[in-house]
Formats: sequence, C-alpha cells, structure tokens
Amino acid sequence: MPANHFIDLNSLKVEDWGRLVDLAERMRENPEEYNQCCRGKILATLFYEPSTRTQFSFQSAMFRLGGQVIGFDNPGTTSVAKGESLKDTIRMLAGYSDIIAMRHPLDGSALAAAISSDVPIINAGDGGHLHPTQTLTDLVTLSIEKGGFDGHCIGVCGDLWYGRTVHSLIKALSCFNNNRFVLISTKELTVPPYVREVLDKSGCEYSFAETLEEAVPELDVLYMTRIQRERFSSPEEYEAQKGVYVLDGEKMKRAKKDLIVMHPLPRVDEIAVEVDSDPRAAYFRQARYGVFARMALIYTMLSEGLNVRELREGTHIEPGKRCRNKRCVKAFEFDLPDFVHQSSDGLVCGFCEQIVS
Ligand code: CP
Repeated sequence: MPANHFIDLNSLKVEDWGRLVDLAERMRENPEEYNQCCRGKILATLFYEPSTRTQFSFQSAMFRLGGQVIGFDNPGTTSVAKGESLKDTIRMLAGYSDIIAMRHPLDGSALAAAISSDVPIINAGDGGHLHPTQTLTDLVTLSIEKGGFDGHCIGVCGDLWYGRTVHSLIKALSCFNNNRFVLISTKELTVPPYVREVLDKSGCEYSFAETLEEAVPELDVLYMTRIQRERFSSPEEYEAQKGVYVLDGEKMKRAKKDLIVMHPLPRVDEIAVEVDSDPRAAYFRQARYGVFARMALIYTMLSEGLNVRELREGTHIEPGKRCRNKRCVKAFEFDLPDFVHQSSDGLVCGFCEQIVS
C-alpha cells in the first residue's frame, strides 16, 4: 500500500496525529520560525470540485512555509476536458511538483491517485468518502478550544450519509477515550454502515436523535453540516431533506455554557447568522486553524515523511469483484486493482469502502 500519502487519517497512528496537531499549534504561535522551511518546493493543488477553505488554506499554508503553488480549480481548463484520465493527469503533475493536494468528486479517487503518483498525495476530499485534512483541522480546533480529544459528548448533525467530514471525524474521535456520539439526522441521512461499524468496533457509546432540541443540552461539541445537494440523485430527494435542522439562538439557550459549535463550512441555512456572534460559535476560528493544520502536514510530508501503516487492515486483491457504488472511482478509471477488504457487512471495495459483489 502506498507510503507517505495522506489518504485516510486512520492510516496514521494516533500518536502521529498528536505530533501533527502539536506542530500546527507551534506554527500558529511562532509562524516566523517556519516561513522558509519549504523554500524551493512546489505544491500542486488539483481541485476537480469547488472549494474555498481547503483550496486556499492549502495555498496559504504553502506560501507561509516559503514554498510555491501551481494547480487548477476547474478541470475544464485542463486536458481533463479532452478526456485525460486521472492516472495520466497525476503522472504529469507529479513531474511538475513535490507534493499534490487533490479534491475529486469520486469516492476513492485519492487512493487511485496515490497509486499513480511518484510524489506524496494529500486527500483534500474524495467524493462523499473522506476529508482527512478537515479532520486534522477539527483535531487542532478541539485541542485549542477544548484542551484535548477525550471525554466529549459530540453531536453530529445534518447530512451524515454524504458528509465525508463527519465520517472522518467519527473515525478519528472514536479512537480516544470516553467520547460519546449523538447522531442527529433524518433516517434517510444517517451514517453509512461502515461508519456504524467503526463505532461498534471502537466500543464508543452512541445514540440517535431526530431533533436538535432534544440533543443540544447534553453536548460538549456540536458539529453541524450542510445537506450536500450536489450528491443527491434527484432534486426531489434534496428538497425532502433541506432545512430540517437549523441551529438558532433559541436552541443555543438550551446548550452548555462551554459548548463549541463547529462546522466544516460552507454553511447554507443550517446555522442562523445570529449564532455567529455567540462566543461558542467556533466555525470561523476552525477554518483559520486549517491553515496551520495544513502547514504542519505539508512540512512533515516533505521533510521526515508520514509514518503510514497499511491503509486498511486486510486489504487485498480479488480479481473480478465489482463495486456497486456508482460514485466510486472504480466505475470511471481503468486499470485500478480490484482492492477489497472484509468488513462485518461483507466484502467492501478497497477504494470507497462500499459493498462489492
Ligand atoms: N470545509 C471545506 O472543505 O470547505 P471547502 O469545500 O470550501 O473547501
């Protein structure tokens, strides 16, 4: 399995997360100490999907480290528009840069890119699958705002099915002690089976809530998410889900005094603007911490490298297995190995972690 790529936070040891978070905090406190440490290096930012925070915080991070940036935010202006494959695009950009941060709409695309790359790949969001640099940002936020990662009651609210930030966050926080999760969503948008499996295996307590009102009073952290319109198969399905959860001033009155409200952003209508002035609203601070999280990651990958262990235990090749996920990179890219691994629900795709047949 590829080394020194950042595809899934869980491919690093928990101690290594701590080292990255500590470095991010040191970079935040003393930025001038690090402002030349990537001099002469080039980051390529390949954004096949829209982004504000991830794209520009990566670029800001590299400039603050003394490095330079190339890339695109519209594949339509590149030879992707002429039909160039992901594999070929990555091979080209790996020749022009020292490290690549890629966002792509297909689940599992980051691992597919890593297989073809001679330089480190950072997963800046692969479809509805994972968004590990957001999770690193979220860990930095919890460290700064809550003093650590243990013993929290964490509410995750909104689109828990397509919300890759939620999947990565649950995977990460379930590795720490005494965390409890409240999953606040409609039945249609609850977490996918593989995230339930992560929770079950971790032994973390978790419960389901259908309203914010019932969940808010017990929470230490409330992680809001938007309903991901772009991932629904029809406008009708999206219309049925939008606007169900809105955090407003009234609901904040029911919350603990030391609650923090996080959100990966962008927000649509799930947090009323009146909440922004509440000191417990941490989401704009969280977005700022993302610069330091990404500085720590880029610098580590370009200096000592990441200590990546096997991506997912038991991943192996079973020729002929078909991933049923229509949004999986396997459905679009040729020549990818038939990676699978065993989960409690059956054999799952090694790229997107959904059931294969
Ligand atoms: N949080 C996040 O991923 O935001 P962008 O989509 O703007 O990058």
